[in-house]
Amino acid sequence: MDFKFTVNRTIQLEETSSTQDVAKELAPLCKEDGILIITKKQTAGRGRFERVWESKEGGLYFSLILRPNAKTMPLDLLSIKAGRAVAQTLKDLYNIKSKIKLPNDVLAFDGKEYKKISGILIETSAQADGGLDWIALGIGIDTNNTPSKKLNAASVKQLTKKQADNQELLQKFLQNFAKEYVSWNIA
Ligand code: BTN
Repeated sequence: MDFKFTVNRTIQLEETSSTQDVAKELAPLCKEDGILIITKKQTAGRGRFERVWESKEGGLYFSLILRPNAKTMPLDLLSIKAGRAVAQTLKDLYNIKSKIKLPNDVLAFDGKEYKKISGILIETSAQADGGLDWIALGIGIDTNNTPSKKLNAASVKQLTKKQADNQELLQKFLQNFAKEYVSWNIA
């Protein structure tokens, strides 16, 4: 099955509770596909199982509203594809070696060990017939923020010793994700 991905609208925020909250509020109201919600910081960023996602200024925090024109979609695959696009982006721009930790983490190699650098959160509309109306795909990437020690995480800046350009990173991710999204064949 093939899907096409383009960003049709961008909502840029200074601060919000969570870009997932915004996406979930917006998605039922507007029928557009490919809405990007991005913020500089989140006051209640979250991960799977409502775990806190640290969202200090400097990191990259965004959600995409997707409306695949299919009633069902393998969401575990979508998470892998988003993770692969993040990993490819880190390689393309910074030559950072990373790997996907199923189901939703990207770990980056710091020369000694792999540390979490990105997390992916997928939330969807619930339809009575079991189908999907929209998907909120949320992605957090530690870029210029300094993650708390207890998280065993690393940021791009910590790995490269340079300031990352969040805009450039986002654009590269979107390009890589568009390539991943077109087909559900992961071979
Ligand atoms: C996880 O590690 O469990 C997933 C973390 C996902 C974090 C991103 S940041 C942008 C979007 N908004 C959120 O509140 N969460 C996701």
